[in-house]
Amino acid sequence: MYKRPDMSVELCGLRWKNPVTTASGTFSARDSGGYYDFSRLGAVTTKGVSAEAWRGNPVPRIAESWGGMLNAVGLENPGVEAYIKEEIPYIKHYINERLMPGGERMCANTGGDGSEAGTCAAPETLIIANIVGKHVDEYRAVAERLNETDADMLEMNISCPNIKAGGLSFGTDARLAAEVTAAVRAATAKPLIVKLTPNVTDICEIAKAAEDAGADAVSLINTLLGMRIDAKKRMPTLANITGGLSGPAIKPIALRMVYQTARAVNIPIIGMGGIMTGEDAAEFFMAGASAVAVGTAALICPTAPTDILSELEEFMQSNGFADIGALRTALG
Ligand SMILES: Cc1cc2nc3c(=O)[nH]c(=O)nc-3n(C[C@H](O)[C@H](O)[C@H](O)COP(=O)(O)O)c2cc1C
Repeated sequence: MYKRPDMSVELCGLRWKNPVTTASGTFSARDSGGYYDFSRLGAVTTKGVSAEAWRGNPVPRIAESWGGMLNAVGLENPGVEAYIKEEIPYIKHYINERLMPGGERMCANTGGDGSEAGTCAAPETLIIANIVGKHVDEYRAVAERLNETDADMLEMNISCPNIKAGGLSFGTDARLAAEVTAAVRAATAKPLIVKLTPNVTDICEIAKAAEDAGADAVSLINTLLGMRIDAKKRMPTLANITGGLSGPAIKPIALRMVYQTARAVNIPIIGMGGIMTGEDAAEFFMAGASAVAVGTAALICPTAPTDILSELEEFMQSNGFADIGALRTALG
């Protein structure tokens, strides 16, 4: 039997106790916290937040699909003020409640700092605030507003296929991607992750533009633009007509894009897209990711993020990987 692996990673100058986070839009602290202890995760990534409240798209905005799902939620959110007042304090409170006397943290199954299961001095779960805007000024305003908060990192979504203005238009044009990245970079000292869309011919071009404009990391992939038709009703299934495909069906595409991007940029990659098991996560590290995010899997089974973390650790232990670095250099 091999020694317990070290799950911790250094990413954008911050220590993560393990490299697993939630994928934006699939994690709500209040809902998820009722099912599993999300303070076991290296980070939690929250739903996209804009300057003012957004109502999202008309319903129906979710449809099942073979190997995945389509969503056209349209980034419904309560706006940055409500986010600062409610979501961030709730997450902080939740995490702190799980601290044991003396500041130690329960770390069953997570290892984290390489210690035995039980307690550990691993760092707190980080908060990644996903931000979105319809124009550059809105992105900048949201980033600025988060400066004095407990958000540890910002993830800038320039890749949502479900809103007409902003979002995807920045993510499919290298010049615009660079412009919005530079503007947000200037507005915050927090580590900045730029979230990329797969709905482009060459994702490496957009990743490099984000890197050159000051991104500390890129995350990929967001959903793939898709559609369903209700043949009996002779109507598109989604009110928005098109939606974003996520789940295991997109994993081969996500892996390919992480692999290519890892060879094109020098900044870390947070990989996501169809991760359903610990072994799926291991594939993303082998492709070049430094951390992974779990999305649709958590909509199928709410405990998926921590289940996948445990499975990843077991996979590493039984296959002789001492740490995440060993996984990242494993590919021949
Ligand atoms: C219902 C739903 C809502 C989402 N909302 C967001 C969002 O607010 N911001 C964002 O950057 N990505 C959003 N995404 C994309 C996910 O974060 C992730 O990139 C994508 O679903 C691929 O990962 P998965 O296959 O593990 O779900 C959403 C995905 C789903 C399924």
